[in-house]
Amino acid sequence: MKIFIEKNYELLSSKAVLRFKKILESKKVKNIAFPTGNTPKLFYRKLVELYKKGKIDFSKISGFLIDEYYPMKKDSKDSFNYYISNNFFALVNLKEKYSLNGSNLDFISECRSYKELIEKKGGLDMAILGIGENGHIGFNEPGSELNSRVRLVELKNTTLDLNRAKYEAGPIPRYALTMGIYEIFRAKRIMLLASGKSKSERVRDFLNGPISRDLPVSVLRLHPDIEVIIDKEAAVLIEDKIMNLIN
Ligand code: PGA
Repeated sequence: MKIFIEKNYELLSSKAVLRFKKILESKKVKNIAFPTGNTPKLFYRKLVELYKKGKIDFSKISGFLIDEYYPMKKDSKDSFNYYISNNFFALVNLKEKYSLNGSNLDFISECRSYKELIEKKGGLDMAILGIGENGHIGFNEPGSELNSRVRLVELKNTTLDLNRAKYEAGPIPRYALTMGIYEIFRAKRIMLLASGKSKSERVRDFLNGPISRDLPVSVLRLHPDIEVIIDKEAAVLIEDKIMNLIN
């Protein structure tokens, strides 16, 4: 595991772009899973800036959105499809863009198709991830099976409380469609991002707590090729003995 601790959110985002660009240039990467949320927003903005300057090329990359609310219209401003399209997918030259459709009433076939699509494409070469304040990855909430696949999940109250603040219309959806921990863990490489004090407990537990279904992100500690990019605020609770190993 590589761990980078940057001074602040701005530098974290720049570091993530630098690492990502390097991976794109040096490795055979085709299928990449992309997250939503506040954490990757500046990362996406910087990638788009680089693209506009002709300094990065996505023409061989297929982008896969990790999750989506359910039920949710694709073009709703609250949808993750809208977010990823407006922050990234529609602004660069990706070869292909895929996402879960939260407006397909047959969620079983929606999830099966996405699972089969990922398999047919040869699996994910890379997954970029944030950490939920309750330790979720994608919408794999605490309690998720470590071999869980693309599926419908019921969101935990911790997630609903946080989502309420970000959500514009009506009652927030209680359900979501998400890649499973299996699809995410099978990605050949992982880039995990965390910023701010609100993530510091989860970062500490991720690095030094038990690997458990109660903290879905913890399973990524077993991943053979993971880099973790965080800022100082997210790193404040990392124990000294672990910090000595990082430095
Ligand atoms: P955030 O969300 O980046 O908005 O904190 C992360 C997540 O829930 O995975």
